[in-house]
Amino acid sequence: MSDLIEDPISGSESQGKGKKAHPKKVRIVPESLKRFRGVHDQAAAGGPPEKIAAQKAKGKLGARERIAYLVDEGSFQELGLLMESRCTDFGVKDKHIKGDGVITGFGTINGRLAAIFSEDFTQLGGSLGRTHADKIAKLMDMAADARVPVIGILDSGGARIQEGVDSLDGYGEIFLRNTKYSGVVPQISIILGPCAGGAVYSPALTDFVFMVKGISHMFVTGPEVVKSATGEEVDFETLGGSMTHASKSGVCHFVANSEPDCFRQVKELLNFLPQNRFEKAPAQETKDPPDRKITLLEKLCEIDPRKPYRVHHIIWWLSDDHKFLEVHHDFAKNIVVGFMRLGGQVVGVIANNPAHMAGALDINSSDKAARFIRFLNAFNIPILTLVDVPGYWPGVAQEHGGIIRHGAKLLYAYSEATVPKVTLVLRKAYGGAYIAMSSKLMGGDINFSLPSAEIAVMGPRGAIEILYSRQIKEAKEEDRDALRAKLAKEYSDKFASPYQTASTGSIDEVIEPAQARAQLIAAFRMLAGKRRSGEQNLTGNIPL
Ligand code: HXC
Repeated sequence: MSDLIEDPISGSESQGKGKKAHPKKVRIVPESLKRFRGVHDQAAAGGPPEKIAAQKAKGKLGARERIAYLVDEGSFQELGLLMESRCTDFGVKDKHIKGDGVITGFGTINGRLAAIFSEDFTQLGGSLGRTHADKIAKLMDMAADARVPVIGILDSGGARIQEGVDSLDGYGEIFLRNTKYSGVVPQISIILGPCAGGAVYSPALTDFVFMVKGISHMFVTGPEVVKSATGEEVDFETLGGSMTHASKSGVCHFVANSEPDCFRQVKELLNFLPQNRFEKAPAQETKDPPDRKITLLEKLCEIDPRKPYRVHHIIWWLSDDHKFLEVHHDFAKNIVVGFMRLGGQVVGVIANNPAHMAGALDINSSDKAARFIRFLNAFNIPILTLVDVPGYWPGVAQEHGGIIRHGAKLLYAYSEATVPKVTLVLRKAYGGAYIAMSSKLMGGDINFSLPSAEIAVMGPRGAIEILYSRQIKEAKEEDRDALRAKLAKEYSDKFASPYQTASTGSIDEVIEPAQARAQLIAAFRMLAGKRRSGEQNLTGNIPL
């Protein structure tokens, strides 16, 4: 801070009558101000220069720089800059860490308020002592009262070892609030460094986790402990890098190539989210006509029902301005989830993806979709379900892994959700998977189908092997294929179409494919008043 201040007294005294006052700049700096500036500047600088240099050498931004990337310029209001650890053991007191290794405060992001904390690895490795934890807990309480999202930037060695159980208690404080405010305000975790031990569980309790390639790592126990406990040799990246958590464990929802790219993605996500469970997600005007024709869906009716395709293409065609923000892009690719707008309103999409495992449901896709549906329901976001599902993925691994238990989460999430639910059956909808994907009798509000849809207990080929097994066995070997084809066609004509289901009302309308966007927008408009925001949605977002 500059020592130069205006001296209004001498400035005005020095002027003659009728002349305009030109205040002189003089150096008058009261002791209290000098002291304040010294303390403030030292606290704001963070850790010692060599630690800051080490942070830079790893290609990482500083804790304050990160906040600057995230918030609107000049909007950040810090709280607790001067708080210090009360621990006196192991030399912690001598280090005089003002702020205790974490920056906390409020700022605006694209004009909307958010609570932000940013851990500073240059101060005791960003480790979490009691004061550090108290600051985060207090911020979370204030954010819940103010009804604004909480964004955590994590870069920490975990519980501060010098503070013993006090630091573990600190994690307890945070976990409790992560859970208490789950489904109340959106919570986002940005992992920008190591995240070890207890540090991993707070992000896991939040709604969305972001990681950056080569910079972010999450693990309960690091490579050394893994080696001594199990003998397995593994490096940081393989054990807990961004792609491991994005594609294998499912802990991470978004992967970025760099820190600035990560902050850009966080802002993009926030654009789709309401500030809290009492509001609706922000609408955005669009010039994209609601009745734009979706010719791609006409093509879908022509192709072989077994041909794979990426359901993303259909989502892009349906959405306003062809914009879709995919969540969990690299995990359980057989189901696609994310945000888009239809007629200006935010909608959450859940879509089977025939490009992977034919779009069948399995353990991971059930978990992925169920948790996303629960988030949407907690935050008043209507649900669009696009169905093209041949059934559940069969196999011993799935059964022993608990597909029954995991699949049930999907049924629970859809049945529990009271936000508007619109379903469009694109092609296959067989058996239990048809019921699971927001079917009418499980609470779907408006259920559409394309003329190409096949809604049945099972696919024609499987069905005829059961229904006509004796006839097929008794037929001559050379006649069997022709017999199978004939029987399958008969079955398809009768059952593998949307018409039987439409006749019972389980499908509300079979629609012109090109009109799908117009129909979906009209359906969501019709359902807009289904519940007032803040009502009936008192659910948290438990990690599934
Ligand atoms: C205190 C810590 C610390 C910690 C790091 N530091 N972790 N201080 N408590 N948990 C300090 C280091 O001593 C060092 O201090 C500085 O931070 C930088 O650390 P380095 O090791 O030099 O950095 P780097 O090589 O980048 O390695 C980072 C790291 C490593 C991978 C995070 O520090 C590490 O493995 N730390 C321990 C991780 C861990 O096991 N945490 C679990 C804690 S128990 P100086 O003074 O030398 O600069 C836990 C359980 C909670 O969290 C359960 C709650 C339910």
